[in-house]
Amino acid sequence: MSGVVTLTPAPVLDRTYLVASMAPGKVNRAIEVHEYMSGKGLNVSRTLHVARHPTAAVMPIGRDDEHLLFRTPFPHILRIMPIQGRIRVNTAIVEDGGRTTNVNQSAIPMSTTDWNRVVDLTVEQIQDMDADWLCASGTHPFNSDTDDYVDMTGLFERVREAGARVALDTSGVPLDRLVTSGLVNLIKPNADELANLVGRNLATIGEALEAGRELNHGGVEVALVSLGADGALAITSDDAVWGAAVAPQLVNTTGAGDATLAGFLGNSIREDGSHELDLERALATAVSWGALAVSLPTTLITGLEDAPVPTVAAPDPERVLLEATHLTKK
Ligand SMILES: Nc1ncnc2c1ncn2[C@@H]1O[C@H](COP(=O)(O)OP(=O)(O)OP(=O)(O)O)[C@@H](O)[C@H]1O
Ligand SMILES: [Mg+2]
Repeated sequence: MSGVVTLTPAPVLDRTYLVASMAPGKVNRAIEVHEYMSGKGLNVSRTLHVARHPTAAVMPIGRDDEHLLFRTPFPHILRIMPIQGRIRVNTAIVEDGGRTTNVNQSAIPMSTTDWNRVVDLTVEQIQDMDADWLCASGTHPFNSDTDDYVDMTGLFERVREAGARVALDTSGVPLDRLVTSGLVNLIKPNADELANLVGRNLATIGEALEAGRELNHGGVEVALVSLGADGALAITSDDAVWGAAVAPQLVNTTGAGDATLAGFLGNSIREDGSHELDLERALATAVSWGALAVSLPTTLITGLEDAPVPTVAAPDPERVLLEATHLTKK
C-alpha cells in the first residue's frame, strides 16, 4: 500500500447564514443555514480521494460533536480521535450581493493526554497504509497543560521512522519553529507566509526562488511555494520548477492551497518502490488542481475532469508578482 495520511489538528465547523441584508445590533432572519465540517487536512484528503489516491484524514473531534461527522462528505476516509470539549465554530453571515461578515473562534486547547492520542492514531494510520506522506495542515491548537502550541516534533520523528515523508502547511509561530527542525520534508507556504518566514517582502519570482532556497538550506527538501494567480514554484536545493494554469473562472480562492498540495502529494506517491520525486510532474498537477479550486464555490472538489491544462517551465526570475506580499511581524 501507499498513500497520504492527513492530520487536521484543529478542525472547525463552518456555519453559514444567508440573510437578505445584515442589520448589526438588530434581529436578523436567516433565509438558509448551512453547516459543514471543514479543515485543511480534510480538504487535502477529500481531493486525493476524488482522484482515487489512498488517503485517510485524522482529526480530533469533541465527544459532544461526533454526530457532525455523519453529515460530512466521504465519512469513510475520516479517522476520528474523540477528545474532551467541543469543536470550534466559524460563522459567516452572507448577504444578498455577497457581502460577508465572519466571526471565527480560536482553536480550542487540548490536553497532553488527548494530543498523545492524536499522535498515536496518526502514526498507526501511517503504518497501516505504509503511507508515503503525512500532511499536517492548518492551525495548530494550544496544549492546555503547557500553555504553548502542541508539540509536533515527536509525531514527525515517528512518522519519519516509519518511512514516510512529512509535509507541513501552517503559518505563524508553529511554522517558524518547525521549518528549521530538520523533520519537515515539504512545506507549502503562500507568498505572504514565505515572506514572513524569511523576514522580507518578495516582489519577483527570482526573490521567491531565493527565499525558497533559504528554506532548503534550513533542512526542507521541497519548498512548494504557491503564488496565487502567479502559479507556484517547486524548489529543492538543486532544482526549481515554475508552473501555472489558467483558472476557468474566479469564484472562491479559499482552499486553493489545499488543492495544490493534494495535487503535488498525489503525484509523489511512490511507484515501483521508488522514492524519487518528479518535481515537474507533481507541480503540473498541483497548479492544475489549484486553478480548478478557485473556479468552484466551496472547498469541496467533486471531480477533476475539468482541471485546466498546466504549463510548467524554468522560473523566470525577472517576472514581477501580480500581488505584493505583506509582512505581519517585525
Ligand atoms: N487567480 C488564480 N488563477 C489561477 N490559479 C490560481 C489563482 N489563484 C490561485 N491559483 C492556484 O492555486 C494555488 C494556490 O493558491 P494560493 O497561493 O492563493 O494558496 P493559499 O493562499 O495557500 O490558499 P488557501 O490557504 O486558502 O488554501 C496557486 O499556486 C495557483 O496554482
Ligand atoms: Mg494556504
